[in-house]
Order: sequence, then C-alpha cells, then structure tokens
Amino acid sequence: MLIVNIAQLVGLHGAEVHKVAAAAMKELPLLENAYLRIEGERIVDLGRMQDLPGTGGDEVVDATGCVVMPAFCDPHTHLVYAGSREKEYRDKVMGLSYEEIARRGGGILNSARRLHETSEEELYEQSLPRIEEILSFGTGAVEIKSGYGLSTEDELKMLRVIRRLRESTPLTIRATFLGAHAFPAEYRNDPDAYVDLIIQEMIPLVAGEGLADFIDVFCDRGFFTPEQTDRILMAGVKHGLRPKIHANELDYSGGVQVGVKYDALSVDHLEFTGDEEIALLKESDTMPTLLPGASFFLGLDDPPARKMIDAGLPVALATDFNPGSSPAGDMQLMMSLGMIRLRMLPEEAINAATLNAAYAMGVEEEMGSITPGKKANLIITRPVPGYEYLPYAYGSDHAGKVIINGKIIKDKC
Ligand code: NIG
Ligand code: FE
Repeated sequence: MLIVNIAQLVGLHGAEVHKVAAAAMKELPLLENAYLRIEGERIVDLGRMQDLPGTGGDEVVDATGCVVMPAFCDPHTHLVYAGSREKEYRDKVMGLSYEEIARRGGGILNSARRLHETSEEELYEQSLPRIEEILSFGTGAVEIKSGYGLSTEDELKMLRVIRRLRESTPLTIRATFLGAHAFPAEYRNDPDAYVDLIIQEMIPLVAGEGLADFIDVFCDRGFFTPEQTDRILMAGVKHGLRPKIHANELDYSGGVQVGVKYDALSVDHLEFTGDEEIALLKESDTMPTLLPGASFFLGLDDPPARKMIDAGLPVALATDFNPGSSPAGDMQLMMSLGMIRLRMLPEEAINAATLNAAYAMGVEEEMGSITPGKKANLIITRPVPGYEYLPYAYGSDHAGKVIINGKIIKDKC
C-alpha cells in the first residue's frame, strides 16, 4: 500500500528512540507533502512526494489535506467489565465522593458482583464492542487489566476473556493481573488474608497459565498499603510479571516509591505528585502515566503534568477506560484533556499518546511511531489544517481511516 500526498506525516521518531522526556516531548518529527509505503503489516519506506520512486502495482491511498500519525497505544484500561455504573454517578452528582460510594458497596465491589453473575461468554460479548469502538477512534494497542473478579475463579475468568480478545481482534493486547484492586467484603476485617490469597494462589495460577504480562496493585489511601503492595509486587516479579501500578490517585500513597523500587514499567494516575516523587522517577526507567479522563470524570485535581515535564520527566497518556472513574476509551479525547486540563502542548500530547504510551505497555519497538520496520499501525485523519488541530478540536472523531497491521479497518473519509 502506498499513501500519497500526505499533508503532514508526523511522529517520525528514529527506531532508537524508545521514549521522549522533558524538552524532547515538544519535538514531533514530521514531513510535509509526504508518502508512506507499507508492505504486509510493516512500514517499509517514507519520504517527500518529490522523491517518490515508481508506484506501479501499489494500492494507492490519497491523503491530500490529511495528517498521518501513529495509531494510539492505550497503556491503562479496565475495559473488560460487566454492566455499567451510571446510577452511582447520580450519587456522585448529589455529593458523595468516590470513596464514600465504595464504602457503601458501590464502586469496584459493585462491578465485581456483576462480573461474578456474568458468564465468560457474556463478558466477552460485552467487551468486544468496546474493542471495536476504540479501534475506530484509532487505538492500535491496548493494555487491559483484571481486577473486577477479586476471587481466584473470577480473576481467571477475566484474564481468559482478555486472552480471547487478543486472539480474535487485530488489536495488540497486553494483559495485567490486578487481583489487588479492592478488598472483597469478606476480607474487610482481615485484609492481609486477601493479600496472602493473591500471593499464594492467584499469582502462581495466573503466571502458570501465561495469562498476564504485568502485575498491578491499587496502592492508595483506603485501598492497598505500600507494605501490602511491596509483598504483592515481590511475588509477581518472582513469577515474571513486571509491575505497572496504580499510585497516588487519592493521596501521597507511597505508591511511586514502591513502584520504582520494583522497576515498574509505569506508575499510573499520579494526581498527588510532589518533588520527592519527581526526583525518584527521574532516576528510574518507569513511565509516569497520566489518566486525565479519571480526574475529569471524578472532579479530582489533575496530575501536575506541566511541572513533571518541565522537571525533566516523560509522561504517557491513557484512558483508564472503566465503569467507575472513566467510562470512555477515546484517546483523541485524552489528548484534548491533556491540553485543556494538563496544559500539555499538542506535540507533547501526541507523543504521550503514541510513543510514550507504547513504552508504558512494552510495545515501543513495534509501535508508537512512524518508523520503517515498525508495524503499520496508523491513522489517516479527515482533512484538517494540521496536527495541532487534533487535540484542539475536542469531541470530534478525527480518524478518517485507521490502518492496523497494514490493513484498513476503518474507512470513513
Ligand atoms: O483506575 N483507581 C482504581 N481503579 C480504577 C477505577 C475502578 C472503578 O472504579 O471501577 C481507576 O480509576
Ligand atoms: Fe485504573
């Protein structure tokens, strides 16, 4: 396939660039009036139109007036869930906090109850349209967590659904075991017994069946303590699961410290991030991943993205797609929230949603930039004035064509 007359071909990072931090986040390498050649499922060549070699035999796609950019990676979602929780959102509007709703048996435990009552087949059927929706918004790779099971049987059920989605859709999917998402009601008086169950029973089974790539813990006020998180991550690492954790959404939880200690691939949320957390992250390979949909939807203070980038950190963006704190899987919207609420520049928002997001889920060698040799996962936008228009004009679907593994899977322009 040959894409011609591309107004702006953006995200042309070299293969050696695995993530961008600090001032480099403002750099979005691009070519104007460009072509891009795809063979099979890979990008093989790109350049300026005036240098285009012969086009014989190619399927030619005209991208006059369009931006071509890398497909998004979404490195933090909970998109396998049963039912939805819009009734709780009414309670929130009436003044209850996220934690108060959780204490009343709402929140994660409500989703766990529904998931328990839902068959594996039905859970797959409910999750598949969410995958189709995010593909059409231009997401080419997604991380999906368990964590609405909270029993061995139901956590395995969730992870098997994730595996089936991986086998049956063109998306690149990474799975994360999040047994430590909340304490089931029956463990309320003995939370450490649930930590023992995770360590002694769940992790060996999950790792034994090869059902997860990563391990996660919701390390925050009212949820798992840093000490409990430490034990769980140590067990996960022993079983070959790299940490990727929830930290500092509700308070300075100590989550960043324990995440960095175990060389987490990412620490996510980070609404509460101070100088100490920034200094630790700067010395690490851990990607700070921000979820502006969650702070927007819950009405929380946003993470200090501007301060983090200016202090020298990289950041990635993700949707957190879940029924409780961010029922949205649209990475285009996250880029806009990145600009509107986190004060990120358009170049930073695009880099955070593509290359740095790929890094945050361990797929940066294959995805996240327009680079010969990488997978041909890309978005051809509808005609737009330029890439800066994409995060600016929020609420519109700018993805005209979406190409995944070299195949056009959406064609709406
Ligand atoms: O990332 N913070 C913890 N977990 C999810 C919310 C899960 C839920 O409310 O169902 C999150 O925001
Ligand atoms: Fe989350």
